[in-house]
This record gives sequence, structure tokens and C-alpha cells, in this order.
Amino acid sequence: MSVSLKDEIIQEVEKRRTFAIIAHPDAGKTTLTEKLLLFGGAIREAGSVKARKASRHATSDWMEIEKQRGISVTSSVMQFDYNGHRINILDTPGHQDFSEDTYRTLTAADCAVMLIDVAKGVEPQTIKLFQVCSQRGIPIFTFINKLDREGKNPFDLMEELERVLGIRSVPMNWPIGMGRDLCGVYDRMKNQVELFNGKDHSTIEVRKVDDYNDSIIREMAGDFLTDQLIADLELLDVAGDQFDLEKVSRGELTPVFFGSAVNNFGVQTFLENFLQLAPKPTPRKSEDGIIEPTSEKFTGYVFKIQANMNPAHRDRIAFLRICSGRFDRGMSVKHVRAGKDIKLSQPQQFLAQDRDIVESAYPGDIIGLFDPGIFRIGDSLSQGGNVVFNELPTFSPEIFAKVTIKNALKQKQYQKGIDQLTEEGTIQVFRTISFDDTILGVVGQLQFEVFEYRMRAEYGVEVQLQRMTYQFARWIIDDNIDPSKFRINSALVKDKKDNYVVLFENEYAMRTAMEKNPTAKFLDTAP
Ligand code: G4P
Repeated sequence: MSVSLKDEIIQEVEKRRTFAIIAHPDAGKTTLTEKLLLFGGAIREAGSVKARKASRHATSDWMEIEKQRGISVTSSVMQFDYNGHRINILDTPGHQDFSEDTYRTLTAADCAVMLIDVAKGVEPQTIKLFQVCSQRGIPIFTFINKLDREGKNPFDLMEELERVLGIRSVPMNWPIGMGRDLCGVYDRMKNQVELFNGKDHSTIEVRKVDDYNDSIIREMAGDFLTDQLIADLELLDVAGDQFDLEKVSRGELTPVFFGSAVNNFGVQTFLENFLQLAPKPTPRKSEDGIIEPTSEKFTGYVFKIQANMNPAHRDRIAFLRICSGRFDRGMSVKHVRAGKDIKLSQPQQFLAQDRDIVESAYPGDIIGLFDPGIFRIGDSLSQGGNVVFNELPTFSPEIFAKVTIKNALKQKQYQKGIDQLTEEGTIQVFRTISFDDTILGVVGQLQFEVFEYRMRAEYGVEVQLQRMTYQFARWIIDDNIDPSKFRINSALVKDKKDNYVVLFENEYAMRTAMEKNPTAKFLDTAP
């Protein structure tokens, strides 16, 4: 019996889980990703993802990074199957690759896995990435890594999640010892222990227990750790939050798992629980209302454009998140902004190993579209309609520089370059009201390097960047803007759509401006 298109889409949506791993560099994101891919059979050897990362970070030279783009893009999205699920992991670059793209990528995920180093707790990059996820109200699952090392007390870590990130947590398992004393974890949901034993801690065994007092735990962990475990678990039962899937779905409560990625300890349990609890592809907001993923009409939006993937061709790839319907290779869809139909003939899907041509794809999947320069970040594609998604906010830049041209005769190319690179989302551009200076804003230093390089390589223009001391941008909504009120450690500028924006040097200046302008609204994303 043939399945209707609707039923086929429903089945495929049901199977899918699309998420990003958010972490501060060195927390173990590469290691965890690799273990997940190994479970899914998407890679055969440990070390494949790591080797790629090493080659990417061996140099900070932009030209070299550029050469590696073909490699980094294949790991931008990794797809694999596990236990009847199809999983898409979106990579969020850290280190020097951190940029506005990192934030935009998070808008394409339906939930996030927050990876935390047990010894370091919540670190700066985790906070930034968490906030973007939290604004979208998506579920966040926490994996506390490196349990084989001495780290912070688990209760202190829970307190830190609440104090620093403002999210309550519910431990799904609980460590029995830590560092050299690590004996395993107690699974609170299933009442079983995962024992981490053997001389070199290489054996992992799962045992069902009757309760905390089971002799298996005491034999393994000894009296001291067992008594500690019992006391901790009793405290959690009495004073801790109850598991509540509704709260998890709204991003108000994060399930916490403890483990050690490098030892593959706790990873499989995490994956299996995560797949049960994580949302399938969620409905998306469009200008005309909510689009359900199971709608038969194909829709999607571009959240990232990767330029110069292949230096020989200088082509670009537009990353599209599928929001509804079924994608078929060669199909015609409406490019809504351009107002015309286009044929999607060379789509690519990203597996851990290779770029593959994709024949069909479903909501939650990410496909790479060959882009001869027709796409912009935020563009919507839709089948038989004009669906426009409003998923992509403009994020507040954190690093600013005044840009000037070195050779005034190249003014025309300079302007063209700035316009196009702004459209692509490489940089944000602001203009000062008084002197008509051009200020660039970015989230990561690499964006400046990319800008300088591309201005030279693609537009033949040498530019000079002069770093400024501003750290925050806020879009101002006010009926009567009075420039004299934004003078102290701040600058009133306009963005490319002529919205008023104030750049601030520090939080103090920002607070003062807010106090002085009580009727104005200060937004941290463009209106
Ligand atoms: P990242 O992508 O988040 O930056 O982190 P990555 O996976 O590269 O891990 C950073 C370091 O932490 C690596 O060590 C990795 O082996 C180690 N690591 C990851 N998970 C665990 C864990 O569960 N326990 C312990 N003890 N270490 C862990 P490295 O010395 O930088 O590299 P390597 O030489 O070990 O490969």
C-alpha cells in the first residue's frame, strides 16, 4: 500500500532530532560529537572529527582557514541514524571561528545540548550561546563532562546553572565519586547504576538495583561514597525539582546528565534519554502565522551562507533549514524575496564523511544549496506560496571598528563590497550621524579578517580598520530621539535600514542612558 505524502512527512518528522551543542572551547564538544557519530555508525574510527579540528586550528592564518573551508563545512552539519531516529547535529564554531554565524546556526536547531566541564562550570562562551537559545525558549539538555577528573561539587554546579544562567536543573543521573574515585553514576529515572570499573576504568557495566542501598553499589564504591550518594539522592528527592517535560520543553528546566565523553562513559545513556525527550522538528513562525512541519508544502529559510568553499570556483553554499514539506532534488520553489521561481538542482546534504548529493529531505534537515549569488541570509523558499519566515534576528555586535578606504579612487568598489558583504551577513554596518563615518560591528574577530580579505580578493579594495572601544549596540525605539542624550561613552548611529542605534563603551554607560531616556526602548536585536 502506498503511503500518502502527508503520512510520509509525518513519519519522517517523528524520527528527526535537530540540535546544536553549545560549549566553551575545550569542554569536549569535539570528543562528544565523535562519540555520538560512532554510535550512529557515521564514522568508523575515533579521531576522525578530531583530526579535522586539528587541521582547522593548526593555523590562524585566514588564507589557511579559507583553504580548510571545504573541510569545516562538511562538519557544519552532521547527520546520522540511531535507534530509528535521524539526527542532525549543527556545529557551532568556537575558538577563532566564533562569529554571528554561530548565533544564526542556533536558530536552525530545535533544541540544544549544553556541554559543561565539571571543573570549570559555566564559562563565558557557554553563557552567550545559552542566552541565544534561551531567548528562543528552546529545550536545553545539559551534559556535565570530564567526571573522571576532580571537579566542582554537583550541587554547586546546579546552583551555578541557576545563578549564572537563570535555569533550574534536574539531575537525571548522579555521580558516585569523582576523579580518581569515580565509580559510576546512579540513574535516577531507571534505578540502575552504570559502573565505571576495572583497573584502568575501561569497563562500563549497567546494573539494575532495588534502591540506593543495594549491595552492588556498596561493594563497588565502599561505605564512604555509598553513604554520600544516599545522602545526596535523598536531598534531591526532597528538595530538588521534579522532572517535568512541559518545563523542559519551554526551556525553564534543564535535565542534567553526568559523564565522561573521552571514556565514552554515560554517553549512550545520554543519547538514548535525549532522543526520547528532545522535540521533533517544531512549527516555525512566519509572517502569515505558524507553519506546521507536517504541512505538505515545502518551505525553508537560509540561515548561513558560506563563501568561497572551493577556491577554484569561488562558489558559495547557502544552508537551508527545511521547515515543512518534502524536498525533492530538482524541484522548483519560489524565492520569495526575489519574487521568482528557482530550480534546486545541486543540493548537498552533510554527513560526517563526505558531501553527498541529496535526493530528498524533510523538516529538521539542513541542505546546502549551490549559490551563484542569489541568496541572502534570512531568505525564505516556499512551494506554491509566499511564506516568509522571521526566524533570524540581527544580533548585537560586540566588537567595533571604523573602516576607511586606503585608495580613494576605488570608492565605488568599496561601497559595493560593503553593501554586498553586509547583505550576506559577513559584517554589520553603521553610519555616524555627525561625520558620516562607517563603523563595522561583529561578534567575533574572525569576521573582520574575513571582511578585509574578501574586500581585497573580491573587490580589489584595501581597507583600514581602526578598533573602537564600544562593546554593546542597542536599537532605540523613541518618538523623539535627542542626540545630546547619547554623548557619554556612547555614540548615536544608524544601521543600514536607517534605524537608530546607540553604541556603548560599557554597561554603566548603557544603564545611564536608559535611566536618562525612560520612554525609549532599548533592543538588543534589530527591530
Ligand atoms: P572542544 O571541541 O570542546 O574544544 O573540546 P575537545 O573535544 O577537543 O576536548 C578538549 C580536551 O578535553 C581534549 O584534550 C579532550 O581529550 C579532553 N576531554 C574531552 N572529554 C574528556 C573527559 O571526559 N575527560 C577528560 N579527562 N578529558 C576529556 P586535549 O589534551 O586537548 O587533547 P587530546 O590530546 O587529549 O586529544
